[in-house]
Amino acid sequence: MSTSPVDPTTTPAWGELYTHYQEFRGDLREWFAADPGRADRMSHTAGDLHVDLSKNLATDGTFELLTRLAREVHLPERIEAMFTGEHINVTEDRAVLHTALRREPGTQPPLVVDGQDVDADVAAELDKLSAFADDVRSGAWTGVTGKPVRTVVNIGIGGSDLGPVMVYEALKPYLQDGLEVRFVSNIDPTDVAQKTAGLDPETTLFIVASKTFGTLETLTNARLARAWMWERLQEQGAIEDDADAKQAAVRAHFVAVSTALDKVAAFGIDPGNAFGFWDWVGGRYSVDSAIGTSLAIAFGPDAFRELLAGFRAMDEHFRTAPLERNVPALMGLLNVWYVNFLGAHTHAVLPYAQQLHRFPAYLQQLTMESNGKSVRWDGSHVTTQTGEVFWGEPGTNGQHAFYQLIHQGTRLIPADFIAVANPAYPLADSGTPSTGEGPRDVHELFLANFFAQTKALAFGKTADEVRAEGTTEDLVSARTFSGNRPTTSILAPALTPSVLGQLVALYEHLTFTQGVVWGIDSFDQWGVELGKKLALEVAPAVSGDEAALDAQDASTQALIRYYRSHRA
Ligand code: F6P
Repeated sequence: MSTSPVDPTTTPAWGELYTHYQEFRGDLREWFAADPGRADRMSHTAGDLHVDLSKNLATDGTFELLTRLAREVHLPERIEAMFTGEHINVTEDRAVLHTALRREPGTQPPLVVDGQDVDADVAAELDKLSAFADDVRSGAWTGVTGKPVRTVVNIGIGGSDLGPVMVYEALKPYLQDGLEVRFVSNIDPTDVAQKTAGLDPETTLFIVASKTFGTLETLTNARLARAWMWERLQEQGAIEDDADAKQAAVRAHFVAVSTALDKVAAFGIDPGNAFGFWDWVGGRYSVDSAIGTSLAIAFGPDAFRELLAGFRAMDEHFRTAPLERNVPALMGLLNVWYVNFLGAHTHAVLPYAQQLHRFPAYLQQLTMESNGKSVRWDGSHVTTQTGEVFWGEPGTNGQHAFYQLIHQGTRLIPADFIAVANPAYPLADSGTPSTGEGPRDVHELFLANFFAQTKALAFGKTADEVRAEGTTEDLVSARTFSGNRPTTSILAPALTPSVLGQLVALYEHLTFTQGVVWGIDSFDQWGVELGKKLALEVAPAVSGDEAALDAQDASTQALIRYYRSHRA
């Protein structure tokens, strides 16, 4: 397929969307009042997810134009190109095949890309990590003193951290008793210090997770962790202070996940204890690869495969559902509508599920590292605004923090509300015996907030309604809510591994959809390279090299001098 992106602004659909926008008057109250079928018509099913788009600022006409736009920028062809392994990561000349990590085992014909039998390789690596996870879980894998593993510490950053942390937190109710996973990512030594606090080195397993095995933060933290382990094992009399004993300890307590197995060996980790993946898996799309090894240990290989099956269900939906009912495509297109026509700068993701408390942070890398670009995949400048800022916190905590701005501020902030019908912990409170009120199902109360918030945002409260409550005239405007604040509601039966996989894949694909419309390569991340390179250049100046310090700009020099004069 052609590698030239279509300029969306030159398509007939874009022109019509612009005309539509000029005449557009969002009025959710009126739309719902006049059209009893709106909620039904604009609610869709994708796998186990029920997705209600009806509280968005969009009419049937908006959706029609957006799906036309998708066709005119060749979204269906780009989807197919991704699934079949074309090199749609143009700037790195790579296929983009995170979807291959979760293909149905045994699918015929097998997926062969660039001469590689992708299915066979994925299946072999999954079997290897599953066997390893089983060994750790059963106690067959032991540390250097023969004790089973109690704590797994995943050392990684970006995609080698955010995905595993997010899934770990989300699926904690499935955690095997007696096991715990901790995550180290920040090069601030505080992170290693705090995450190793209280751990017994004899029962601790470190997973060094790095796609490139060249990331400064991760390798530094791995060395810190190795120093901690050697020191503590010696203090406990578990090993001698000699090279062979130390090497044996590394073999028993360190495994790695990477695409660069040569670098793993150079670190001293037995390549037999390394789990691989491939350059066609982007870091932020890698939680379903061997990067999820800590998860397979925590929840078991079966749960990990169930997670993959969830991703697969959403993949199939994205690949086969008509655009008019294709949930990731529609959500991505709505985001284009908000960013490029209605002027939204940010997008909130508000999970009404405490288990998803790291989901917004995970999505920040997925969406912003993918679509935070100002050139298109052929090197030309984009012709529109691109990636919006994604952010969020779990409801109801957010309600008591930033919702005020969403409800009554001057900015348009589209928001996704996510909830599940069945909680992991179906608890009832103690009731209020003094009033005769019996115990209450707390999840119901929680979800009442979920339903109420999207309703308040959509329909607001008119000045007349405020007056009818007896509010004095001077307070009417402060208490009036304009409404017409767009939301998407996503509901699932429960937060199972499969549902979580579906949710993640939903956002992967809506991110891709936006990237295709904008003509950008959602799979490279050149923007983060400069900072990494400069950190290495600045490091000698920080450590006292005067010539390196003189080479810095005036502001950086002054800041480093301040640091050096205050460092105890
Ligand atoms: O932040 C840049 C980045 O390259 C991310 O894309 C990636 O997820 C992260 O660094 C970590 O990279 P690695 O897994 O190679 O250590």
